[in-house]
Amino acid sequence: MLSFRRKVSKSAQDGATKRAKIQKGRTLQKIIIDCDPGIDDAVAIFLALAARDDIEVLGITCVKGNVGLDKTYRNAQRICAAAGRLDIPVLRGIARPILAPADLAASVHGVDGLGDIDLPLPDDFPETKTHAVDFIRQQVEKYPGEVVVCAIGPLTNVAVALLFDPLLGEKLRSIVFMGGAAYCPGNMNDFAEFNFMVDPHAAEIVLQSGAQLVMFGLDVTQQTRIEELHLARLRQNGNVCSDIAERLLTAYAKGDQHLHDPCVVAWLIEPSIFSGTQSRVRIVTEPGPQFGRSMANIDPHGNCLVMTQVDQQRLFSILLSKLAQWP
Ligand code: BDR
Ligand code: CA
Repeated sequence: MLSFRRKVSKSAQDGATKRAKIQKGRTLQKIIIDCDPGIDDAVAIFLALAARDDIEVLGITCVKGNVGLDKTYRNAQRICAAAGRLDIPVLRGIARPILAPADLAASVHGVDGLGDIDLPLPDDFPETKTHAVDFIRQQVEKYPGEVVVCAIGPLTNVAVALLFDPLLGEKLRSIVFMGGAAYCPGNMNDFAEFNFMVDPHAAEIVLQSGAQLVMFGLDVTQQTRIEELHLARLRQNGNVCSDIAERLLTAYAKGDQHLHDPCVVAWLIEPSIFSGTQSRVRIVTEPGPQFGRSMANIDPHGNCLVMTQVDQQRLFSILLSKLAQWP
Protein backbone atom coordinates (compact mmCIF):
# COMPACT_ATOMS: atom_id res chain seq x y z
CA MET A 1 0.00 0.00 0.00
CA LEU A 2 1.37 3.40 -0.90
CA SER A 3 0.57 6.76 0.50
CA PHE A 4 0.02 9.78 -1.71
CA ARG A 5 3.12 11.86 -2.38
CA ARG A 6 3.09 15.36 -3.74
CA LYS A 7 5.22 16.23 -6.74
CA VAL A 8 5.66 19.98 -6.73
CA SER A 9 8.87 21.91 -7.01
CA LYS A 10 10.53 23.46 -3.94
CA SER A 11 9.79 27.00 -5.19
CA ALA A 12 6.17 26.15 -5.88
CA GLN A 13 5.92 24.70 -2.39
CA ASP A 14 7.45 27.83 -0.83
CA GLY A 15 5.06 30.03 -2.77
CA ALA A 16 2.17 27.84 -1.82
CA THR A 17 3.08 27.98 1.84
CA LYS A 18 3.28 31.78 1.79
CA ARG A 19 -0.06 32.16 0.12
CA ALA A 20 -1.89 29.43 1.93
CA LYS A 21 -4.48 30.57 4.41
CA ILE A 22 -4.08 29.01 7.80
CA GLN A 23 -7.18 28.42 9.84
CA LYS A 24 -7.11 26.72 13.19
CA GLY A 25 -3.53 25.68 12.51
CA ARG A 26 -4.41 23.80 9.32
CA THR A 27 -3.72 24.74 5.73
CA LEU A 28 -6.87 25.13 3.69
CA GLN A 29 -6.74 23.08 0.53
CA LYS A 30 -7.76 25.09 -2.50
CA ILE A 31 -10.02 23.00 -4.66
CA ILE A 32 -12.01 23.28 -7.85
CA ILE A 33 -14.94 20.86 -8.02
CA ASP A 34 -15.46 19.76 -11.61
CA CYS A 35 -18.82 18.01 -11.65
CA ASP A 36 -22.06 16.95 -13.29
CA PRO A 37 -24.65 17.28 -10.51
CA GLY A 38 -25.96 14.66 -10.03
CA ILE A 39 -27.11 13.66 -6.56
CA ASP A 40 -23.85 12.25 -5.22
CA ASP A 41 -22.11 15.30 -6.76
CA ALA A 42 -24.47 17.50 -4.73
CA VAL A 43 -23.60 15.66 -1.52
CA ALA A 44 -19.88 15.98 -2.36
CA ILE A 45 -20.34 19.74 -2.82
CA PHE A 46 -22.21 20.05 0.49
CA LEU A 47 -19.41 18.13 2.21
CA ALA A 48 -16.71 20.35 0.71
CA LEU A 49 -18.58 23.52 1.68
CA ALA A 50 -19.17 22.17 5.19
CA ALA A 51 -15.48 21.32 5.66
CA ARG A 52 -14.47 24.96 6.19
CA ASP A 53 -11.49 24.05 8.36
CA ASP A 54 -9.96 21.89 5.65
CA ILE A 55 -11.12 23.12 2.26
CA GLU A 56 -11.52 26.34 0.32
CA VAL A 57 -13.75 25.87 -2.73
CA LEU A 58 -12.38 28.19 -5.43
CA GLY A 59 -15.18 27.40 -7.83
CA ILE A 60 -17.44 24.77 -9.31
CA THR A 61 -16.99 23.90 -12.97
CA CYS A 62 -19.76 21.98 -14.71
CA VAL A 63 -19.72 19.41 -17.47
CA LYS A 64 -22.22 17.25 -19.32
CA GLY A 65 -22.57 13.89 -17.61
CA ASN A 66 -25.45 12.62 -15.51
CA VAL A 67 -27.63 15.13 -17.37
CA GLY A 68 -26.92 17.79 -20.01
CA LEU A 69 -24.76 20.84 -19.36
CA ASP A 70 -27.64 23.32 -18.92
CA LYS A 71 -28.97 21.16 -16.12
CA THR A 72 -25.63 20.43 -14.41
CA TYR A 73 -24.83 24.16 -14.46
CA ARG A 74 -28.19 25.19 -12.98
CA ASN A 75 -28.03 22.33 -10.49
CA ALA A 76 -24.63 23.50 -9.23
CA GLN A 77 -26.19 26.95 -8.71
CA ARG A 78 -29.16 25.37 -6.89
CA ILE A 79 -26.79 23.48 -4.56
CA CYS A 80 -24.71 26.57 -3.75
CA ALA A 81 -27.87 28.61 -3.20
CA ALA A 82 -29.25 25.97 -0.82
CA ALA A 83 -25.97 26.17 1.07
CA GLY A 84 -26.21 29.98 1.20
CA ARG A 85 -23.02 30.29 -0.87
CA LEU A 86 -23.89 32.61 -3.76
CA ASP A 87 -20.25 33.76 -3.52
CA ILE A 88 -18.91 30.52 -5.04
CA PRO A 89 -18.23 30.95 -8.77
CA VAL A 90 -20.17 28.40 -10.83
CA LEU A 91 -18.86 28.02 -14.37
CA ARG A 92 -20.31 26.49 -17.49
CA GLY A 93 -18.03 23.94 -19.14
CA ILE A 94 -18.16 21.64 -22.14
CA ALA A 95 -21.48 20.33 -23.41
CA ARG A 96 -20.38 17.05 -24.96
CA PRO A 97 -17.62 14.45 -24.77
CA ILE A 98 -14.51 14.96 -26.89
CA LEU A 99 -15.16 12.12 -29.34
CA ALA A 100 -17.54 9.62 -27.77
CA PRO A 101 -21.27 9.62 -28.59
CA ALA A 102 -23.07 12.38 -26.68
CA ASP A 103 -26.17 10.46 -25.64
CA LEU A 104 -25.23 8.75 -22.35
CA ALA A 105 -27.05 9.94 -19.22
CA ALA A 106 -27.69 8.44 -15.78
CA SER A 107 -31.38 7.96 -14.93
CA VAL A 108 -30.68 7.32 -11.23
CA HIS A 109 -30.40 11.10 -10.71
CA GLY A 110 -33.95 11.77 -12.02
CA VAL A 111 -35.05 13.87 -14.98
CA ASP A 112 -33.65 17.11 -13.55
CA GLY A 113 -30.43 15.49 -12.27
CA LEU A 114 -31.29 16.25 -8.63
CA GLY A 115 -33.85 13.59 -7.85
CA ASP A 116 -36.77 15.77 -9.06
CA ILE A 117 -37.12 17.19 -5.55
CA ASP A 118 -37.71 20.71 -6.96
CA LEU A 119 -34.70 22.35 -5.38
CA PRO A 120 -35.27 26.08 -6.04
CA LEU A 121 -33.08 28.14 -8.36
CA PRO A 122 -32.82 31.77 -7.21
CA ASP A 123 -33.16 34.46 -9.92
CA ASP A 124 -30.23 36.40 -8.52
CA PHE A 125 -27.50 33.75 -8.72
CA PRO A 126 -24.47 35.65 -10.09
CA GLU A 127 -23.76 34.54 -13.66
CA THR A 128 -20.06 34.14 -14.51
CA LYS A 129 -19.06 34.56 -18.15
CA THR A 130 -15.69 32.81 -17.77
CA HIS A 131 -15.61 29.33 -19.31
CA ALA A 132 -14.89 26.43 -16.95
CA VAL A 133 -11.72 25.51 -18.85
CA ASP A 134 -10.38 29.07 -18.59
CA PHE A 135 -11.32 29.22 -14.92
CA ILE A 136 -9.32 26.06 -14.15
CA ARG A 137 -6.29 27.45 -15.98
CA GLN A 138 -6.57 30.89 -14.34
CA GLN A 139 -6.82 29.48 -10.83
CA VAL A 140 -3.81 27.23 -11.37
CA GLU A 141 -1.79 30.24 -12.58
CA LYS A 142 -2.95 32.26 -9.58
CA TYR A 143 -2.03 29.57 -7.03
CA PRO A 144 0.85 27.57 -8.52
CA GLY A 145 1.36 24.19 -6.90
CA GLU A 146 -1.72 24.55 -4.74
CA VAL A 147 -4.86 23.76 -6.68
CA VAL A 148 -6.47 20.36 -6.31
CA VAL A 149 -8.93 19.57 -9.09
CA CYS A 150 -11.64 17.31 -7.68
CA ALA A 151 -13.24 15.83 -10.76
CA ILE A 152 -16.44 13.93 -10.06
CA GLY A 153 -17.97 13.81 -13.51
CA PRO A 154 -16.67 12.95 -16.98
CA LEU A 155 -13.18 14.44 -17.38
CA THR A 156 -13.91 16.57 -20.48
CA ASN A 157 -13.26 20.02 -18.92
CA VAL A 158 -10.08 18.85 -17.19
CA ALA A 159 -8.73 17.17 -20.33
CA VAL A 160 -9.34 20.24 -22.48
CA ALA A 161 -7.65 22.47 -19.89
CA LEU A 162 -4.64 20.11 -20.05
CA LEU A 163 -4.63 20.28 -23.85
CA PHE A 164 -4.57 24.08 -23.79
CA ASP A 165 -1.59 24.07 -21.43
CA PRO A 166 0.57 20.93 -21.51
CA LEU A 167 2.36 22.14 -18.35
CA LEU A 168 -0.87 22.47 -16.40
CA GLY A 169 -0.44 19.00 -14.91
CA GLU A 170 2.80 20.10 -13.26
CA LYS A 171 1.42 23.44 -12.10
CA LEU A 172 -1.50 22.07 -10.17
CA ARG A 173 -1.17 20.08 -6.98
CA SER A 174 -3.20 17.07 -8.00
CA ILE A 175 -6.21 15.78 -9.86
CA VAL A 176 -8.34 13.62 -7.60
CA PHE A 177 -11.15 12.01 -9.52
CA MET A 178 -14.08 9.66 -9.28
CA GLY A 179 -14.07 7.46 -12.32
CA GLY A 180 -13.19 4.06 -13.66
CA ALA A 181 -13.08 0.55 -12.28
CA ALA A 182 -9.45 -0.53 -12.03
CA TYR A 183 -9.65 -3.98 -10.46
CA CYS A 184 -13.39 -4.66 -10.52
CA PRO A 185 -16.26 -4.77 -13.05
CA GLY A 186 -17.94 -1.59 -14.31
CA ASN A 187 -21.40 -0.25 -13.53
CA MET A 188 -22.42 0.38 -17.16
CA ASN A 189 -21.48 -3.11 -18.28
CA ASP A 190 -18.93 -5.72 -17.21
CA PHE A 191 -16.07 -3.33 -17.97
CA ALA A 192 -16.81 0.39 -17.89
CA GLU A 193 -17.76 2.86 -15.19
CA PHE A 194 -20.13 5.74 -16.07
CA ASN A 195 -17.80 8.80 -15.93
CA PHE A 196 -15.10 7.07 -17.97
CA MET A 197 -17.56 5.61 -20.45
CA VAL A 198 -19.11 9.03 -21.12
CA ASP A 199 -15.73 10.46 -22.15
CA PRO A 200 -12.96 7.83 -22.31
CA HIS A 201 -10.73 10.04 -24.47
CA ALA A 202 -10.80 12.74 -21.82
CA ALA A 203 -9.96 10.18 -19.15
CA GLU A 204 -7.00 8.97 -21.20
CA ILE A 205 -5.71 12.53 -21.70
CA VAL A 206 -5.84 13.08 -17.94
CA LEU A 207 -4.13 9.77 -17.23
CA GLN A 208 -1.31 10.66 -19.61
CA SER A 209 -0.93 14.23 -18.33
CA GLY A 210 1.89 13.66 -15.85
CA ALA A 211 -0.19 15.26 -13.09
CA GLN A 212 -0.36 13.72 -9.63
CA LEU A 213 -3.44 11.53 -9.96
CA VAL A 214 -5.57 9.87 -7.33
CA MET A 215 -8.33 7.62 -8.61
CA PHE A 216 -11.49 6.80 -6.71
CA GLY A 217 -13.03 4.20 -8.97
CA LEU A 218 -15.75 1.67 -8.27
CA ASP A 219 -13.07 -0.46 -6.53
CA VAL A 220 -13.47 1.80 -3.52
CA THR A 221 -16.71 3.74 -4.01
CA GLN A 222 -18.76 0.56 -4.18
CA GLN A 223 -17.56 -0.32 -0.67
CA THR A 224 -19.78 2.51 0.59
CA ARG A 225 -23.45 1.81 1.10
CA ILE A 226 -26.16 4.28 2.01
CA GLU A 227 -28.34 2.76 4.74
CA GLU A 228 -31.57 3.90 6.40
CA LEU A 229 -29.59 4.74 9.57
CA HIS A 230 -27.55 7.31 7.60
CA LEU A 231 -30.73 8.91 6.28
CA ALA A 232 -32.14 8.97 9.82
CA ARG A 233 -28.99 10.74 11.10
CA LEU A 234 -29.35 13.36 8.35
CA ARG A 235 -32.96 13.94 9.44
CA GLN A 236 -31.80 14.35 13.05
CA ASN A 237 -29.20 16.94 12.04
CA GLY A 238 -32.03 19.40 11.51
CA ASN A 239 -30.43 21.88 9.13
CA VAL A 240 -31.21 22.85 5.54
CA CYS A 241 -28.34 21.03 3.83
CA SER A 242 -28.80 17.82 5.82
CA ASP A 243 -32.52 17.89 4.97
CA ILE A 244 -31.78 18.36 1.27
CA ALA A 245 -29.09 15.67 1.33
CA GLU A 246 -31.58 13.30 2.96
CA ARG A 247 -34.22 13.95 0.30
CA LEU A 248 -31.66 13.60 -2.49
CA LEU A 249 -30.14 10.38 -1.14
CA THR A 250 -33.58 8.85 -0.49
CA ALA A 251 -34.41 9.34 -4.17
CA TYR A 252 -30.95 8.16 -5.31
CA ALA A 253 -30.71 5.06 -3.11
CA LYS A 254 -33.64 3.53 -5.01
CA GLY A 255 -31.26 3.09 -7.97
CA ASP A 256 -27.70 3.27 -6.58
CA GLN A 257 -26.73 2.80 -2.94
CA HIS A 258 -23.13 3.91 -3.34
CA LEU A 259 -21.75 7.22 -2.23
CA HIS A 260 -19.30 7.60 -5.12
CA ASP A 261 -18.40 11.29 -5.45
CA PRO A 262 -18.20 12.26 -1.76
CA CYS A 263 -15.28 9.81 -1.39
CA VAL A 264 -13.06 12.29 -3.24
CA VAL A 265 -13.85 15.11 -0.83
CA ALA A 266 -13.71 12.86 2.23
CA TRP A 267 -10.16 11.89 1.26
CA LEU A 268 -9.12 15.54 1.33
CA ILE A 269 -10.58 15.87 4.80
CA GLU A 270 -9.28 12.58 6.21
CA PRO A 271 -6.91 10.65 3.90
CA SER A 272 -6.25 7.97 6.52
CA ILE A 273 -9.63 6.34 5.90
CA PHE A 274 -8.51 5.28 2.40
CA SER A 275 -5.67 3.16 1.10
CA GLY A 276 -4.63 2.14 -2.37
CA THR A 277 -1.94 0.95 -4.72
CA GLN A 278 0.19 2.90 -7.18
CA SER A 279 -0.83 1.58 -10.58
CA ARG A 280 -0.47 2.10 -14.28
CA VAL A 281 -3.89 2.87 -15.68
CA ARG A 282 -5.00 3.38 -19.26
CA ILE A 283 -8.38 3.54 -20.93
CA VAL A 284 -9.77 1.50 -23.78
CA THR A 285 -10.75 4.11 -26.38
CA GLU A 286 -11.11 1.74 -29.32
CA PRO A 287 -14.76 1.03 -30.23
CA GLY A 288 -16.03 -2.34 -29.01
CA PRO A 289 -17.49 -3.99 -25.93
CA GLN A 290 -14.69 -2.72 -23.66
CA PHE A 291 -15.02 0.94 -24.73
CA GLY A 292 -14.34 3.11 -21.66
CA ARG A 293 -12.75 0.35 -19.60
CA SER A 294 -9.90 1.30 -17.28
CA MET A 295 -7.09 -1.22 -17.57
CA ALA A 296 -4.82 -1.26 -14.53
CA ASN A 297 -1.85 -3.10 -13.20
CA ILE A 298 0.08 -2.54 -10.00
CA ASP A 299 3.25 -0.56 -10.71
CA PRO A 300 5.22 1.46 -8.13
CA HIS A 301 6.16 3.86 -10.95
CA GLY A 302 2.66 3.98 -12.40
CA ASN A 303 0.71 7.12 -13.33
CA CYS A 304 -1.99 6.92 -10.70
CA LEU A 305 -2.68 6.07 -7.08
CA VAL A 306 -5.72 3.81 -7.28
CA MET A 307 -7.76 3.72 -4.09
CA THR A 308 -8.89 0.23 -3.20
CA GLN A 309 -10.03 0.31 0.45
CA VAL A 310 -12.16 2.61 2.58
CA ASP A 311 -13.27 2.50 6.19
CA GLN A 312 -16.90 3.10 5.32
CA GLN A 313 -18.00 3.66 8.91
CA ARG A 314 -15.56 6.55 9.28
CA LEU A 315 -16.53 7.86 5.85
CA PHE A 316 -20.19 8.18 6.85
CA SER A 317 -19.23 9.50 10.24
CA ILE A 318 -17.23 12.32 8.57
CA LEU A 319 -20.05 13.13 6.17
CA LEU A 320 -22.77 13.12 8.80
CA SER A 321 -20.81 15.06 11.41
CA LYS A 322 -19.63 17.72 8.93
CA LEU A 323 -23.19 18.23 7.71
CA ALA A 324 -24.40 18.36 11.33
CA GLN A 325 -22.11 21.35 11.94
CA TRP A 326 -23.66 23.33 9.11
CA PRO A 327 -23.58 27.04 10.08
C1 BDR B 1 -20.39 8.20 -11.19
O1 BDR B 1 -21.42 8.31 -12.17
C2 BDR B 1 -22.35 9.29 -11.79
O2 BDR B 1 -23.67 8.83 -12.00
C3 BDR B 1 -22.08 9.62 -10.34
O3 BDR B 1 -22.36 10.98 -10.10
C4 BDR B 1 -20.62 9.29 -10.17
O4 BDR B 1 -19.82 10.41 -10.48
C5 BDR B 1 -20.43 6.79 -10.63
O5 BDR B 1 -20.20 5.85 -11.65
CA1 CA C 1 -20.74 12.68 -10.70
